[in-house]
Amino acid sequence: QTGYTTLDTGYVNTASCQSAITYIDGDKGILRYRGYPIEQLAEKSTFLEVSYLLIYGQLPTKTELENFADQVASRMMIDERLKELYRSFPRGGHPMMVLSAGIMGLGAYNRQYLDPHNPEHVEEASLRLLGSMPTMTAYAYKSSVGEPFQYPRKNLSYVENYLRLSFGTPMEEYELNEDVVRAFETLFILHADHEQNCSTSTVRMVGSSDANIYASIASGVNALSGPLHGGANQAVLEMLRDIRDNGMNVKDFVAKVKDKQSGVKLMGFGHRVYKNYDPRAQIIKGHADALLRGTDNNNALLDMAIELEETALSDEYFIERKLYPNVDFYTGLIYEAMGFPPSYFTALFALGRLPGWIAQWREEHTDPARKIGRPRQVYVGATERDYVPMDAR
Ligand code: SDX
Repeated sequence: QTGYTTLDTGYVNTASCQSAITYIDGDKGILRYRGYPIEQLAEKSTFLEVSYLLIYGQLPTKTELENFADQVASRMMIDERLKELYRSFPRGGHPMMVLSAGIMGLGAYNRQYLDPHNPEHVEEASLRLLGSMPTMTAYAYKSSVGEPFQYPRKNLSYVENYLRLSFGTPMEEYELNEDVVRAFETLFILHADHEQNCSTSTVRMVGSSDANIYASIASGVNALSGPLHGGANQAVLEMLRDIRDNGMNVKDFVAKVKDKQSGVKLMGFGHRVYKNYDPRAQIIKGHADALLRGTDNNNALLDMAIELEETALSDEYFIERKLYPNVDFYTGLIYEAMGFPPSYFTALFALGRLPGWIAQWREEHTDPARKIGRPRQVYVGATERDYVPMDAR
């Protein structure tokens, strides 16, 4: 079977799971969700339609999509007492910590639907997470800036609701801009799934013990928060700002990255699987260009990012190591231009990745051959030895 290797210690180790959800060809820069090329979905679909596709395996009919959207929208409001949880966090608390705690709280408020082997429970919990996550992500942001929480509106789309919950205030309605809404539909589609990456593997691993979906997804949020993974979008913007604020030029910075002693990485570059251009980065770069041209400081940072990319892609160090921009390289520029602080960018990644996590967690539970995750090791420690009394040490 694919994905199995027999290590020299003579036992079979599952190097990966089998999945029918997302296909990646890292050498060719190909990404497909349930067989549909990411370029087509990014251009023609919506985030909620792609969520349906990832979870149920097929593009929905008009009626199916309307019913799905209604089911999700009717779960966008969270329990008033859960809302108060967000008031108990310090304003400086990182949004990913707040989001992870919020998801566990949501599970506590929906504790009657936790059985991973009960299809009705799994369906209800999936819709609840999809509906409540935008609200909780927006509340994590509002709480960090000390602003009042808004309520979702059934007459708005998923992305429209999310933007209004994040930026609207009782003082004035948030004015929805269709270019911004389209950009966020595309960004969330591009983040929706990516086969067995670190956080998705975490969601499947936790789910393999029959832990409930809330515990599994909260674990995925925690794995995603690392700067080598989803936290890279925040790290890219901090890197660009550092270069600007320290008066460095791109060539000096690239030279520093190539100097191994510096320990400095070109954040937003490189990938475990893509040894070619990440197809998502290509699409996001186009949106960044369209949205940022003509704005103020982000223009300068965008120009710097483009110069960094051009410099790296013409430099042997990066070429021989097959280091290309990944999904995180340009996203932060768009998020910041929308008004989100860098600490919030990875929570946006989590919001986009949620349907993929749900689809992968459900697939884990429908595989009749599944076993509890138990990675094996090759032991390289001390051979057997006897205990040494203290006075003999
Ligand atoms: C995501 O897996 C997924 O699908 C993840 C993701 C998803 O959608 O879920 O795509 C999202 O996490 C994207 C990656 C975001 N992270 C970053 O942008 C952080 C910066 N990138 C690196 O930390 C790194 O490229 C990784 C972690 C992404 C990948 O690491 P690898 O494949 O283990 O690469 P490596 O460490 O084996 O590096 C190979 C060589 C090394 O040099 P040598 O020892 O051979 O001399 O490339 C160098 C590395 O030092 N290198 C870098 C570099 N990334 C690798 N050098 C400078 N800058 C970098 N960013």
